[in-house]
Amino acid sequence: MTEAIRKNFASDNIAPVCPEVMAALERVNHGSAAAYGEDPATAALTALVKDVFEHDAWVFPVATGTAANSLALSAATDPFGAVVCDQSAHIANDEGGAPEFFMHGAKLVPIPSADGRMDVADLDRALTANEGHGVHTSPIQTLSLTQSTEWGTVYTLDHLQGLTARAREAGLNTHLDGARLGNAIAALGCRPADVSWRAGFDMLSFGGTKNGAMAARQS
Ligand SMILES: Cc1ncc(COP(=O)(O)O)c(C=O)c1O
Repeated sequence: MTEAIRKNFASDNIAPVCPEVMAALERVNHGSAAAYGEDPATAALTALVKDVFEHDAWVFPVATGTAANSLALSAATDPFGAVVCDQSAHIANDEGGAPEFFMHGAKLVPIPSADGRMDVADLDRALTANEGHGVHTSPIQTLSLTQSTEWGTVYTLDHLQGLTARAREAGLNTHLDGARLGNAIAALGCRPADVSWRAGFDMLSFGGTKNGAMAARQS
């Protein structure tokens, strides 16, 4: 990485593709391969994800974090339902309505927080308020959290477990926007499993763009 890029604080997705990713793309870009996820590279990716996360997994590579979030949330939420998230969440502020579009009408219910990390008490209040309005309400069916958050803060593992436990008690599905999960894992010094399924999440959008992968970059 050049000095000019290292000192550019615009966003971590302005950086170029890292040399290891470029070399890996060159390695697989030979001969023909089956389409629609039936190719050896996708199989290798799935095996690697299972190994790194120490768990069985369905892996769906997509080009952007917005696509990953929208597809995951639409799989977990009915069109008449709702997703509870922090008010700073990327899904609520920076995805041009894509999650709502893919959910075919489901709402986002943002919760205020001081630094991008919602409290269990606030989640509890939102769930209780949501229950109290009968058929008129879009029932909250999914909890979506972000780790690291949009503020650059990091939830502790206990904090995450508290939130997902309350969500499970309310019968919600749980989704983690991990556009910057690698940074959180490094900051917490934990295993990828600790901050994903062991912390109570059913689904993970695992980001590569902000860690040197090739995605929708233009020059
Ligand atoms: C927390 C978070 N989630 C999702 C995304 C979406 O990623 P993309 O720009 O690849 O759609 C971003 C991008 O900045 C992000 O910061």
